[in-house]
Amino acid sequence: DHDSRISGIKSALRVIPHFPKPGIMFQDITTLLLDPKAFKDTIDLFVERYKHENISVIAGIEARGFIFGPPIALAIGAKFVPLRKPKKLPGEVISEKYILEYGSDCIEMHVGAVKFGDRALVVDDLIATGGTLCAAMNLLERAGAEVVECACVIEVPDLKGRERLRSHGKPLYVLVE
Ligand code: PRP
Repeated sequence: DHDSRISGIKSALRVIPHFPKPGIMFQDITTLLLDPKAFKDTIDLFVERYKHENISVIAGIEARGFIFGPPIALAIGAKFVPLRKPKKLPGEVISEKYILEYGSDCIEMHVGAVKFGDRALVVDDLIATGGTLCAAMNLLERAGAEVVECACVIEVPDLKGRERLRSHGKPLYVLVE
């Protein structure tokens, strides 16, 4: 059932303390990928939620959104659009800068990948502050897509990412906190 799949996913994840910096508890999804049942359950839970929502685009965020996004896209018959770090995409791009605790970051999307009226789901492994997902939604909306929801495997609740998405007017769906 649903709850036993969620607990299997939770136990397949691991936390690496003090990576990449002292004090950071790194949420590592690579152990989930080593467990074919837990990995499949992860994809299946997303597919079950989104298969009847007329989603035409899965937008995956570099890097780990590229692991979870494509199998969902294939299963629901949507196109997959990679949102990448700057200077990685070869064609014409639109960019969205966003502010981090220290400094700023940027993600880019190919012009023409998304069309007016597309219905998009944004996929990533984890939401912390929600800054990355908000930048992703801005890119998709600038291209004329309607963002249906953001979906992540893991939520770090104390960083208020969910509230930030709510102030953007979009729901967040996560499998584990
Ligand atoms: C992590 C994670 C999300 C983002 C979430 O990526 O995979 O993409 O941070 O943080 P936020 O909610 O505060 O925006 P990371 O910066 O580690 O980049 P990487 O996936 O390329 O390693």
